[in-house]
Amino acid sequence: MGILSQLSIIYLLWTAMVFCQYEDYDFGDEYDDEPDHQHSYYFNPSPQAEVPRFPVPVECARECFCPPAFPLSMYCDHRKLKMIPNIPPHVQQLYLQNNDIEAVPAGPFTNVTILREINLSHNKIKFHMIDHGVFAKLSHLVQLHLQHNELEEFPFPLPSSLERLLLGFNKISQLSGNALEGLPNITMLDLCNNFLDDSVLKGKRFSVMKNLMQINLCNNKLETMPPDLPSSLMYLSLENNSISYIPENYFSRLPKIIALRMSHNNLQNIPYNTFNLPNLLELNLGHNKLKQLFYIPRSLQHLYIEDNDIEMINVTLMCPSIDPMNTKQLTYIRVDQNKLTTPMSTYAFFCFPHIRTIYYGEQNSNVNKSTQLRTPVFRRLLTPEEYDEAEDDHETHDQETEEDREEENNYFYPYFQ
Ligand SMILES: *[C@@H]1O[C@H](CO)[C@@H](O)[C@H](O)[C@H]1NC(C)=O
Ligand SMILES: *[C@@H]1O[C@H](CO)[C@@H](O)[C@H](O)[C@H]1NC(C)=O
Ligand SMILES: *[C@@H]1O[C@H](CO)[C@@H](O)[C@H](O)[C@H]1NC(C)=O
Ligand SMILES: *[C@@H]1O[C@H](CO)[C@@H](O)[C@H](O)[C@H]1NC(C)=O
Ligand SMILES: *[C@@H]1O[C@H](CO)[C@@H](O)[C@H](O)[C@H]1NC(C)=O
Ligand SMILES: *[C@@H]1O[C@H](CO)[C@@H](O)[C@H](O)[C@H]1NC(C)=O
Repeated sequence: MGILSQLSIIYLLWTAMVFCQYEDYDFGDEYDDEPDHQHSYYFNPSPQAEVPRFPVPVECARECFCPPAFPLSMYCDHRKLKMIPNIPPHVQQLYLQNNDIEAVPAGPFTNVTILREINLSHNKIKFHMIDHGVFAKLSHLVQLHLQHNELEEFPFPLPSSLERLLLGFNKISQLSGNALEGLPNITMLDLCNNFLDDSVLKGKRFSVMKNLMQINLCNNKLETMPPDLPSSLMYLSLENNSISYIPENYFSRLPKIIALRMSHNNLQNIPYNTFNLPNLLELNLGHNKLKQLFYIPRSLQHLYIEDNDIEMINVTLMCPSIDPMNTKQLTYIRVDQNKLTTPMSTYAFFCFPHIRTIYYGEQNSNVNKSTQLRTPVFRRLLTPEEYDEAEDDHETHDQETEEDREEENNYFYPYFQ
């Protein structure tokens, strides 16, 4: 076995490990429509669930269901509840999603001792209807789901035990100065689909969240990159904002970034070395206004630059030199809806020896409204099945390719809407 293949096996093992480890933190596939059908009895045993050794008298709120098989969970979801029922002391997981709850008063939480997870998503909760400190006193709380509510402000104070906080699909346009403090264990913060703009984030110290691995800020109103992110960050989602530039060296403080999603922004010029990051695997810059490419780091596997203003892909620019001992890992490029008139130079295959698919799709050239390169999908090392598939793509070139979906699925699992 050659050194190269040994290296690639080690690399594969390494990525597999990384992904197994952080699978939980992968971004969701926001290109999918949200499934509306919810599982009424969603069982989510906590890894540290302490199952009592003796059968406890199963106390359960009248409005809810406490399955004998999962004695630490109380299910009160999909019941048109207007109020939070009283929570018995032994409950660890509380499911209250999909109700008409407007307020979070302290009363029902009086006897709570070991509550680890609350799902309050899909309700009508407003910030000022949350009793001050009601969450903060839940000292074992690890996950809090508040997505799809009517919060106008980032809820705080929160308990320092919190690890995952989901606030997507609210109306958050305010973030109190100290709201982010006291969350040393938080790893995942979802703020997509809110009303955040630059002024809200200005001066906010995200870096106090020293263990933050993923922050989702997609579908907000940001015009600049979020300030002061912690160096622990691995997944950054900023799609569908109005960001027009990335400051020089912005990512030098974020060396652990694995995936960056910035599609649907107004990016035009990106400083050449912006993405020279040692761990970057996925870079999504589709639907921007890019004219020029940039340096491709060795680790990058998937590059999405569709729907930009690129007239020519200068491979020398992406790959100024070839190091046979350290080959670039790029396998997939999506470049449809640009202004290309010719395919990439064959130098690309020396520089990116692992490339499997280049999706050219349709191009918007200046002269003719829509032209198509002779090979809308380039595939390397085609098996007969893949060849047939590529042939099919000729006919359906404007649709997402099979591989495309496959590639995305490899990396991104639904995040918690
Ligand atoms: C708390 O526990 C006490 C004693 O068991 C009980 O009387 C009271 O109703 C409980 N309160 C709530 C909010 O569950
Ligand atoms: C929380 O509720 C949402 C529905 O709003 C559901 O999709 C999700 O799976 C639930 N998550 C957990 C961990 O209970
Ligand atoms: C934070 O996480 C660590 C490691 O899991 C744990 O030991 C510690 O108690 C947590 N801190 C809080 C405030 O819960
Ligand atoms: C972008 O966000 C707007 C609301 O801010 C929404 O209407 C639109 O559907 C979003 N587009 C995409 C592609 O997510
Ligand atoms: C491609 O980029 C290289 C490096 O910046 C440059 O020297 C070369 O002129 C470019 N080629 C074209 C055709 O623009
Ligand atoms: C535009 O399209 C016409 C016919 O469809 C073709 O003759 C012409 O060469 C095209 N021009 C360019 C620049 O591709």
